[in-house]
Amino acid sequence: MRITTPQNDISEVLLSEEQIKQRVKELAKTITEDYKDKMPIVVCVLKGSSFFFVDLCKDIECHINLDFMAVSSYGSSSISSGEIKIKKDLEQDIKGRDVLIVEDIIDSGHTLKKLIALLDERKPKSIKTICLLDKVARRVVDQYADYVGFEIPDEFVVGYGLDFAEYYRNLPYIGILKPEVYE
Ligand code: IMP
Ligand code: MG
Repeated sequence: MRITTPQNDISEVLLSEEQIKQRVKELAKTITEDYKDKMPIVVCVLKGSSFFFVDLCKDIECHINLDFMAVSSYGSSSISSGEIKIKKDLEQDIKGRDVLIVEDIIDSGHTLKKLIALLDERKPKSIKTICLLDKVARRVVDQYADYVGFEIPDEFVVGYGLDFAEYYRNLPYIGILKPEVYE
């Protein structure tokens, strides 16, 4: 049997642990400033944004509530169709609250757009989005995050929470997956 490691399947480290840490600190500083009197609900969209969410929240220095939700896109696994289904809902009522959605990556923009529409029906005071990675070149719908960690090229990336077939999430950095792994 061939013993492999997740590291072996990475062709290039796109963002190192140090680069991510530094950028997360900067984002947290901005969030702290923008939300200092708002006591927002910060929403982790499982599972992709989990590492980013935890690190970000630890660096935010104002009062926040944490909540978690999980959604799945209908249709083909690689191309999101624009329909989402709630797999795990928030515990808190967001009515009248300031909500900050934490996402891992925006690709076509479908997931984020649908998620915002869905939460907006619950009448929050505001909804903003923060996204670690933005694949701008892949955008299909006109949806952008209010705060972006890094704009990245059109490559399939894994690590720091992002997966391929539920693997590679535990890599501490963001790496480009070798095409032979998914082709
Ligand atoms: P969108 O609806 O097309 O914007 O897709 C966003 C979702 O697709 C993300 O939440 C990820 O789950 C997934 N995704 C898109 N690009 C990548 C990638 O490069 N690596 C891992 N997951 C990705
Ligand atoms: Mg995801």
